[in-house]
This record gives sequence, structure tokens and C-alpha cells, in this order.
Amino acid sequence: MNRRLGILISGRGSNLQSIVDAIAQGDLHATIAVVISNRPEAAGLLRAREAGLETVCLRQKDFDGRDAYDAAVAEELRKRDVNLVCLAGFMRLVGRPLLEAFPNRILNIHPSLLPAFPGLEAQRQALEYGVRIAGATVHLVTEALDGGPIVLQAAVPVLPADTVETLSARILVEEHRLYPQAIQVVLDGGWRLDGRRFVVDAPASV
Ligand code: GRF
Repeated sequence: MNRRLGILISGRGSNLQSIVDAIAQGDLHATIAVVISNRPEAAGLLRAREAGLETVCLRQKDFDGRDAYDAAVAEELRKRDVNLVCLAGFMRLVGRPLLEAFPNRILNIHPSLLPAFPGLEAQRQALEYGVRIAGATVHLVTEALDGGPIVLQAAVPVLPADTVETLSARILVEEHRLYPQAIQVVLDGGWRLDGRRFVVDAPASV
């Protein structure tokens, strides 16, 4: 099966780095075909170039509307024969043209135990709500914001002295472990959706 990834970023790119590292270490059997950013200043673009990856920057302001933008992203991915799209801190809602080009083939990582705390500043939301357990979720992307079927989750404790920064850092460690693992699960196939449930019928051997 085609294991070519397209990674979409907007910022720091630490999750991109964890995917690059997992591939280099042989823990993730995939190839990164392209890294696309919507922001030219994204630090992740630099990381990608340092890793020798092809990068593309597409800015919304150069396109006439959201659909045109999403269609252009889909085109860049298709041109490179991408099979799985990984959002890694991509700060845009994914619209129809992209969803339809890659049905159930777009993953996102979110820094909360969904369905709790979707949207922006998930770690702050968790801290302010007062939950004792926080975490990270990798899910398939649908039209619902942070609402698609869940592939993997990881939990971390919220400690009494936590700030948004310390909690985010603890969650990030889990994100970096979880995302490459979830990508491997999706690429390995043998899964299906049962309603909202992501069901693996033929788990990859461990
Ligand atoms: C991560 O916390 C991720 O869960 C969220 O955005 C952040 C991106 O961080 N979607 P990075 O750019 O991967 O370092």
C-alpha cells in the first residue's frame, strides 16, 4: 500500500519532527512526500528543510476563498501521490474540497481527551475546567471540528501546581509518541469504521 504522507503545519512543527524521527528510527514505515504550511514564517518549514523534505507554502490571501485554497492543497498532495494527510498543528478548518479528495484519509492530533475541550487552547480549557486527567487524541478529520472518529488516545495527569505551560509540555511528550503510532495503525490497514468507532480487525503484529 502507498505509504506516502503529506504533512500540514502552521507553526513550531514539533509533531512533524516526531514523525520525521520515528521514520528515521524505523518505528514508522512511511515516506513524507511533502510538508505544506499556510504560514511562511512557520518554524516547522525550517525543520522540514533541514530533514531534506520538500516544502510548499500556500497562503490563504493568494486564493479566492476557502474552497479554492483547500482545492489547491488537495492538488499539491495529489500531485505527489499522497495517501494519508497528517495535520500537525495546522491552524485551519479543513473544508469540503480537501475532505472529499481524502475521505477518511486525513488525521489530526489534538491536545485533549476528545470529546472534551475541542477547539483552541485545549490545555487551558482542561486546566480551567479542573479535570484531573488530560491527554492527547489522534482522530480522523471530518467536517466537525475535532469531532472525527478516534484512532488513539493517551492520558496524562493534571498536577496541582500545573500551569498551561507545564501541562502542555506533559501532553506534548505523549503527542510525540502517539502520532507516529497512530499513523502506523492507519497505514497498516485492516480497520473499518463502525459508526463513530475506529475498529481494527486485523491488528498489526507487535
Ligand atoms: C500540538 O499541541 C497539537 O496537538 C495541536 O497543535 C500543536 C502543534 O504543535 N494541534 P507543533 O507545531 O506540532 O509543535
